[in-house]
Amino acid sequence: MKYLSYRNLHNKNELFVENVAISEIAKQVGTPFYCYSRLTLFENYQNFVEAFEKNKITDYKICYAIKANYNLHLVKILAGLGAGIDAVSAGEIHRAIKAGVNPKKIVFAGVGKTREDLTFALQNGVEEFSVESVEEMFLLNEVATNLHKIAKFSLRVNPDVDAKTHHKISTGRKGDKFGVDIDFVEEIYTLASKLPALEIFGISMHIGSQITSLEPFKLAFAKLRQICKNLNSLGFKIKNLDFGGGVGINYQNDKTINFYEYIELIKETIQDLNVKITIAPGRAIVGNTGLLITKTIYLKETPRKNFVIIDGAINDLMRPGLYGSYHEVLPIEKKIGPKATFDFAGPVCETTDILAVNREIVIPNVNDLFAFCSAGAYGSSMSNEYNCRPLVPEVLVDDNKFEIIRRRPTFDDMLHLEIL
Ligand SMILES: Cc1ncc(COP(=O)(O)O)c(C=O)c1O
Repeated sequence: MKYLSYRNLHNKNELFVENVAISEIAKQVGTPFYCYSRLTLFENYQNFVEAFEKNKITDYKICYAIKANYNLHLVKILAGLGAGIDAVSAGEIHRAIKAGVNPKKIVFAGVGKTREDLTFALQNGVEEFSVESVEEMFLLNEVATNLHKIAKFSLRVNPDVDAKTHHKISTGRKGDKFGVDIDFVEEIYTLASKLPALEIFGISMHIGSQITSLEPFKLAFAKLRQICKNLNSLGFKIKNLDFGGGVGINYQNDKTINFYEYIELIKETIQDLNVKITIAPGRAIVGNTGLLITKTIYLKETPRKNFVIIDGAINDLMRPGLYGSYHEVLPIEKKIGPKATFDFAGPVCETTDILAVNREIVIPNVNDLFAFCSAGAYGSSMSNEYNCRPLVPEVLVDDNKFEIIRRRPTFDDMLHLEIL
């Protein structure tokens, strides 16, 4: 996070987000909690806008992939900046509209849309669909026909490109469940063109997440361009290319993609094609806006390992347990003293409930706070109530103020949907 710094507060070296001391938030909100920086969110979005402007592109849509973080307040901020939404469920569409997103700027993607999902989307003004199978194409036509609507059809093509990212977040290789095999594309557009409730609109692609070099994008986008040319030469007038998301962030000395060069590549891809552009970044917009703040409950020594047992756990931040992913851990108060190597473990009854491994830190005390960095994407949105742990609150810092943008549920709140 850019606006993260240690500053002197009451003669302590304390971690601040923008101009707020995290320890002050913790006093009022309790731990664990997610803490976001409004300025970082704003700048991340604006960096994409500027990259388009510098490339002199005006006809584009930034459809924020809401799955990365669906907090209403954050989505409202992005909607206010002009963002559209890449949604993969009716629930995400509902949220986006509640947050003020224009449904015309929502693209409905996702591999398993049901009849109910498609109905909900069309009834709520969503027009664009990124279709992932022939079966879905026929169902969309049927649902749109019944509702007397026209759905804008884009086929998600699987380009068979290895995104060179973690295998569990790679989506564009042959054998991945996403999209349609490149060899069947022309046949499917021919079928689609005969379906009365579908308008041939575009082609979409999304090859994976946390991509840190332009190379996989180059390979995939070249294929996308070729597909577009082939379809145009067959008489289909492709109006839009959806390049998906996938731009990575820095978790652990990761190289990051220059946004200008990424958009420049898109510009080269669409040359002479007369198409509009959609991009669907998630992580690159929210990833480094958020921290998970946790408190030390115990220090635990075992013959092999030393653990800092914290109050945050795998249900709050699944990424380390799910993908073995790395989050930098920073003490909220930077102290001087003897160091040792620790794993950070949560209270959940799973061996995989380890949020960080082998970190050399100044030996902490009970109640010391730690921040897990770059937790804004796929952190809160993947969290759950496993072990009957309440979802953690979310706080937004704006300069020298903060507000709670999702409160901590009470235990009774957690029972509300159940019938005794
Ligand atoms: C269709 C689609 N678009 C966009 C994204 C966003 O990806 P990222 O957060 O890596 O930008 C995803 C993520 O899985 C996706 O499935």
